[in-house]
Amino acid sequence: MTVLGTGLDTASPEYAENRAALLAKLDELAAEHAKAVAGGGEKYVERHRRRGKLLARERIELLLDPDTPFLELSPLAAWGSASPEYTVGASLVTGIGVIEGVECLVTANDPTVRGGASNPWTLKKALRANEIAYANRLPVVSLVESGGADLPSQKEIFIPGGALFKDLTRLSAAGIPTVAVVFGNSTAGGAYVPGMSDHVIMVKERAKVFLGGPPLVKMATGEESDDESLGGAEMHARTSGLADYFAVDEPDALRQARRVVARLNWRKAHPEPALPEPPKYDADELLGIVPGDLKTPFDPREVIARLVDGSDFDEFKPLYGLSLTTGWARLHGYPVGILANAQGVLFSAESQKAAQFIQLANQRDVPLLFLHNTTGYMVGKEYEQGGIIKHGAMMINAVSNSTVPHLSVLMGASYGAGHYGMCGRAYDPRFLFAWPSAKSAVMGPQQLAGVLSIVARASAAAKGQPYDDEADAGLRAMVEQQIESESLPMFLSGRLYDDGVIDPRDTRTVLGLCLSAIHTAPVEGARGGFGVFRM
Ligand code: COA
Repeated sequence: MTVLGTGLDTASPEYAENRAALLAKLDELAAEHAKAVAGGGEKYVERHRRRGKLLARERIELLLDPDTPFLELSPLAAWGSASPEYTVGASLVTGIGVIEGVECLVTANDPTVRGGASNPWTLKKALRANEIAYANRLPVVSLVESGGADLPSQKEIFIPGGALFKDLTRLSAAGIPTVAVVFGNSTAGGAYVPGMSDHVIMVKERAKVFLGGPPLVKMATGEESDDESLGGAEMHARTSGLADYFAVDEPDALRQARRVVARLNWRKAHPEPALPEPPKYDADELLGIVPGDLKTPFDPREVIARLVDGSDFDEFKPLYGLSLTTGWARLHGYPVGILANAQGVLFSAESQKAAQFIQLANQRDVPLLFLHNTTGYMVGKEYEQGGIIKHGAMMINAVSNSTVPHLSVLMGASYGAGHYGMCGRAYDPRFLFAWPSAKSAVMGPQQLAGVLSIVARASAAAKGQPYDDEADAGLRAMVEQQIESESLPMFLSGRLYDDGVIDPRDTRTVLGLCLSAIHTAPVEGARGGFGVFRM
């Protein structure tokens, strides 16, 4: 055994300070999560209940196996959207839960938010959910009740929104089951959700599935009709054949959905691992590790020791490239290779170490976990001359062409190309989460404001114009503030640049749920297939 020790002094003032700062951020986060749960607010929730309907999360709860977790994804979607401002959560709930013992990707429209209509953030969130289902081979269950496209923002969603229906049929073609349960409105484009799903359940006198409602039909053909005869559950179950199952009410529909999943004969590619040993140290201590000021480095082994089974970690190349810690461990029984930034900056040695380590994980079919706290690749004459570009490129090449599943957690800084090399969002990690202590941007706010100022000064000099130093100071402060706010986790989560902001104490559980979902699909590393490694 190679159990990690700890040097964390839980009695130190730094620890107390870090912990207090993180707890304050967690309070803010909880307030934003509460907004997503509140949906359209009291008035619309009340109205929904008066109609005898269940809320989106209540539907999910009845769908899932009792007392099993639901890993909700992107709960902060649309956070920070302004003019128009969309409700936090983007009128859609998505996540991974267990139905009849099968891990499924569940989506549920929130009809209390503008009739469950899809705005640009809803679309992004739905497409991300489909991506997760596809990559991990998770059956998809869609709980449908939506006013379709959010009409005022139709220009943002109509054309890209077609991908929703394409995704459903591609999932089906890949043999991944899709189930639609229709609780209410599912008209126009929305009619293709049941239309493209393998299995369809509709609720009596509630489901409305038609290409055009009665007014549109009247306009188009002059025909008189009503909702029920055009698209009711009974009509679709008895006449059109679009509904496979007719449910008498919402709980009945959810019960039938569970029966459909029970009969999918769905098997995971990898068996469940044996029950793991917990870490030797308390997860609560994760709150005191990351300093409020990200310029102060911290030892990522303190984090690893609180995440992995038995705190057991076999470090790879511990004496080489010290600014990146790499090594092997298990997490909830699943093998993982971990890459964690130690001192912030990535140098040539770290980049080469990372590329080699990623290749090894691919040879052994071991998923990779990236723990971010990097300010990027080292700049400066010495480093440029030493080949930092080609070495960073090696790492980015390895990350891009690696085919084992990747998980990313932004603990602290995730700046510049370091975000890419550590498998940032654009590098398709299977899942990416941020701690409230994280920050991500092209560079730090002060550096960015400083660079802008130097460029502006040089530009003025080139034109022979005087430079206003007072205005410059004001501009710098403004830019710094803007970049700072745009680099915060809630802002980035609002834009769907991660799958959620999590409590550091939940990291092991969240990653365990992800690893379990990931092992539904075969884990196969790339044996070759990397780009040209520039030596
Ligand atoms: N785009 C934008 N806003 C929408 C919307 C849409 N597609 N559908 C509903 N809303 C808004 C409503 O204007 C209303 O806003 P308000 O409360 O500020 O007045 C709010 O959402 C609730 O709608 P309401 O009609 O009161 O809810 P409902 O539960 O009685 O009915 C629908 C819900 C979806 C059946 C109904 O709103 C509807 O038919 N909407 C239009 C559907 C449509 O044609 N979509 C285009 C398909 S591509």
